[in-house]
Amino acid sequence: MRTLIKHLLATAEPRDNVLVQGWIRTRRDSKGFSFLEINDGSCLAGIQVVADAAIPGYADIHKLATGASLEVEGRLAASPGGKQKWEVQAARLTLLGEAGPDYPLQKKGHTLEFLRSIAHLRPRSNLFGAVFRVRSRLAYAVHEFFQSRDFIHVHTPIITGSDCEGAGEMFRVTTLKPGAAAHPAADFFGKPTYLTVSGQLEGEAFACALSNIYTFGPTFRAENSNTARHAAEFWMIEPEMAFCDLQGDMDLAEEFIKAMARHALEHCAEDLAFFSRFVDPGVEERLRFVVERPFVRVAYAEAIKILQQAGKRFEFPVDDGQNLQSEHERFLTEEHFKSPTTVFNYPRQIKPFYMRLNDDGRTVTAMDVLVPGIGEVIGGAQREERLDQLLDNMKSHQLDPDDYRWYTDLRRHGTVPHAGFGLGFERLIMFLTGVSNIRDVIPFARTPGNAEF
Ligand code: 4AD
Ligand code: MG
Repeated sequence: MRTLIKHLLATAEPRDNVLVQGWIRTRRDSKGFSFLEINDGSCLAGIQVVADAAIPGYADIHKLATGASLEVEGRLAASPGGKQKWEVQAARLTLLGEAGPDYPLQKKGHTLEFLRSIAHLRPRSNLFGAVFRVRSRLAYAVHEFFQSRDFIHVHTPIITGSDCEGAGEMFRVTTLKPGAAAHPAADFFGKPTYLTVSGQLEGEAFACALSNIYTFGPTFRAENSNTARHAAEFWMIEPEMAFCDLQGDMDLAEEFIKAMARHALEHCAEDLAFFSRFVDPGVEERLRFVVERPFVRVAYAEAIKILQQAGKRFEFPVDDGQNLQSEHERFLTEEHFKSPTTVFNYPRQIKPFYMRLNDDGRTVTAMDVLVPGIGEVIGGAQREERLDQLLDNMKSHQLDPDDYRWYTDLRRHGTVPHAGFGLGFERLIMFLTGVSNIRDVIPFARTPGNAEF
């Protein structure tokens, strides 16, 4: 029976009749036998295969080049070399698919830029295998975190008519012919529709019925920012809690990030050790710090004072009442506090219409979690649950309440205080692995000018 290399390497006793399938990383020929290093992606390590020239299939040995796929039957035996515990002493080799001399992953040491241009093959490299195993494991951990706390998973729509963030950075979804001067009413849905930028508004409807919910799905932003932290298509996790205020929201955000770091340390040790060695020497230590220490919390007004008194030259001036720039966020979390930092109570004019107005009349119950190396990883808020105030917010954001009738209904019928946040899944993976470009933590990145594959 076929065994994944991960399980073979964890075997306790030698075993006959094992069957391994995978891709060849390297081959070394000696007089009368060959050594093959095979990897199947189930873990970082591969397994060494020793093939005697007398066994069936050995005639193909010259075709068993780097990148070729093969099947090996044999005996799992202690490896005398000592480099690893086990090796497979082959009884039969079966070549499945050859790889030509133009196989691009021949040597180590390719640049990340080059590997992006072969995004269909890069998962076969050590780095990308590790990234995508961690991504998978963390996706599982997200569900475990929320399910174990009785949050209900809601699948919010991908096609939507509302611009949750009010930033107008949406991809239009239409069946109208390009250039046709048709009225939106003639379009497929009878109105303008877009790919969602957030499942929050729909999530609120479900929280106002099921108490605690979360979404986990793809989101789309047509913002033309070519940075290492922005993608046009990314995955977001959005919990929403009824009967919850800003404090409870910040508590959950912190607990969530800590749980993800703890999960990675406990379940992704081999891959994390690889990141420490080849990507970011501080990554494991950072995760332990995140797990053990409380995050810093600071009000926006206080953060502005700190930035103004920092005696640092920023590219963008620190402007009370304006959004924090990425360099400001990173100064706070990396240099000033040297800790994940939650900034809360932002000026109302720079935040979306749905956030709750504080009693000062100037700030809203917004919160962003900033982490070293990334900046903002979470954005959230307590929502405006008072109908009059919500309608007032819509007016100042120039939104037509008629377009959000169903959303304002939630305030007409049994409104409750509620709060939630959105965590960018790719930014979390970047933080937990030390990989510094968002294009390298998503299987096939969509960024301005790039939708290959
Ligand atoms: O701060 P944002 O825009 O918040 C919302 O969308 C709210 N509706 C969330 C909520 O309260 N339910 O986005 C949330 C997070 C950001 O903190 C960031 O991590 C990530 O989503 N994000 C992006 N990640 C990659 N590429 C982009 N272009 C991103 N834009 C936001
Ligand atoms: Mg934000």
